[in-house]
Amino acid sequence: MTDTGSPSIETMLLEERRYPPDPEFAAQANAPAEIYERGFEEFWEAEGRERVSWYEPFTELYEWEPPYAKWYLGGKLNVAYNCVDRHVEAGLGDRVAYFWEGEPVEDRRTITYADLQAEVVRFANALKSLGVGKGTPVGIYMGMVPELPVAMLACARLGAPHTVVFGGFSADSLAGRLNDMGCEVLVTQDEGWRRGQPVPLKQNADEALESSRSVRSVVVLRRTGGDVAWREGRDVWWHDVAKDDSECPPEPVDSEHLLYLLYTSGTTAKPKGIVHTSAGYLVGTASTHRYIFDLKPETDVYWCAADVGWVTGHSYIVYGPLCNAATSVLYEGTPDFPDQARWWEIVERYGVTVLYTAPTAIRAHMKWGPEHAQKHDLASLRLLGSVGEPINPEAWVWYREHVGADRTPVVDTWWQTETGMILITPLPGVTTLKPGSATRPFPGIDAAVYDDDGDEVGPGAGGYLVLRRPWPAMLRGIHNDHERYVETYWSRFDGVYFAGDGARLDEDGDFWLLGRVDDVMNVSGHRISTIEVESALVDHPTVAEAAVCGRTDAVTGQAIVAYVTLKGGQDPSVDALEELRNHVARKIGPIAKPANVVFTPELPKTRSGKIMRRLLRDVAENRPLGDTTTLADPTVVEEIKTRAEAEQGDE
Ligand code: WT7
Repeated sequence: MTDTGSPSIETMLLEERRYPPDPEFAAQANAPAEIYERGFEEFWEAEGRERVSWYEPFTELYEWEPPYAKWYLGGKLNVAYNCVDRHVEAGLGDRVAYFWEGEPVEDRRTITYADLQAEVVRFANALKSLGVGKGTPVGIYMGMVPELPVAMLACARLGAPHTVVFGGFSADSLAGRLNDMGCEVLVTQDEGWRRGQPVPLKQNADEALESSRSVRSVVVLRRTGGDVAWREGRDVWWHDVAKDDSECPPEPVDSEHLLYLLYTSGTTAKPKGIVHTSAGYLVGTASTHRYIFDLKPETDVYWCAADVGWVTGHSYIVYGPLCNAATSVLYEGTPDFPDQARWWEIVERYGVTVLYTAPTAIRAHMKWGPEHAQKHDLASLRLLGSVGEPINPEAWVWYREHVGADRTPVVDTWWQTETGMILITPLPGVTTLKPGSATRPFPGIDAAVYDDDGDEVGPGAGGYLVLRRPWPAMLRGIHNDHERYVETYWSRFDGVYFAGDGARLDEDGDFWLLGRVDDVMNVSGHRISTIEVESALVDHPTVAEAAVCGRTDAVTGQAIVAYVTLKGGQDPSVDALEELRNHVARKIGPIAKPANVVFTPELPKTRSGKIMRRLLRDVAENRPLGDTTTLADPTVVEEIKTRAEAEQGDE
């Protein structure tokens, strides 16, 4: 059913290690075993009242008109007030919101909730002076600097929806998103840091704005001090406009007011703008953050090592943790700068208690060896989390043993950009953990596995992961594309949400996620569509045709393989190959760069002209070829195989 295969069904069957909760941890856990007994409505009703402060309380829990849900109807709130001001009002102004650690080793800042409030107010006033108000779309294209959450919160304070574009995306990707949302203001910075090198964010933004008509103003944060081009009348410095400390009252908005769009890849070339609204999203992220990470806001130092540019950062660096008045670490750089012990140095410096990261990062640390972690005191850690792709049991166990001293629970959390919040996960004081399994649905979540016919399967069987009831942080659609929303998530099975993932239930009914069942790759925990990379390739003047698939990679989960047919008169060469890889990086971003490019005179097609990706995946994985009888020209795939093997030999 799925080709990504990690963990495979065999691993699931063979994996017998069990880690019951430590009684000491269980005794102090936020989530007791009884939490699973609470009914759907009872649970979300109580969470709605307890996690969030309302200007006007909600009068109706939810409304479900498939495929659209609304939550906490009748309520009025402000997300930034909930994340910042109310904590200061409650006397927590001196609590640290973020320990910020820049990539250059000596760059550090401690930002209390009072500091955060002052910065958010100043930046909200700045946005206001640029004409931003309730409903004005704002684009944000930054690195991992404290001003990134500040910009998001300033938007939320004004009721202005934002779209954050990951700083590793290209000018083209940025332009596509700014145009789709119709952003009027863009917030960016001169440059970012990545592995000691500056990333030209302002320069990319300038290039993007050549094709983005809607953006009137650009606010530029000075981060590196590098030179940037300047357009008078459009560009302003953050430090010049964010000076006004005068009161800027949070704008009360309806529960369903648009909080943000976040673009994610699907099975077509155009990324989809996933719609998230205010109240349900905030309740869902705060609730899951509190129970799954067992957050004790007075004592924990929580670190989610994702980038704010992805949904993990939105939900579990910014909105969920701040709503819970947590103290977090925010780190600008990569795990191996200046050396491979950087993360562990950070854990020791701040006394990190809860660490949340992705399997690809864990596998990179495995490769570098446990000696880097051993150089530092990691005794503060009490809980570890994983997200982004299926975690192979070896990585899970390594994480627990070498980072968690074989003592901490490891929670493998399944969710998506669309779900907004974690949906399938252990609860650390309750669940018996199994390496490789995300275990069970969070309280108040109705997940199931369906077979091809749409029948629910029982323990011991596999199929497709579905969600049968709405949940507070669920997407409210795809921006400006009702058809695609219905088609992508609601047409596979009647009346239920289809996630696009395969899953199996073991004999205990625990969920084992098996990867995507569609043409979507997962590279380092990031979703990249095969078609998006193919479009970028055929956009190059020398390319006639391209087909892209993922192959298993020991560190990144999957790596991208591109099969390319050049136009007549073009010769395959190492230069041509590098040029195409760089072209994809320019069009989409470095994360979409193919690991391999195989030049081939033809692609394997059916007689009706459909590219047979299954065969290309077999070639990429060095597997025996499946059924080739439907091919128009069966010799093509043998030819590709020979070329692919030759290319691997060259590496
Ligand atoms: C896809 C969603 C949600 C934040 C990161 C990715 C895969 C995610 C797990 C997990 C197995 C996982 C799924 C999902 N995925 N977490 N714990 N076990 N697979 O967000 O880019 O929206 O990707 O990531 O395939 O559909 P995203």
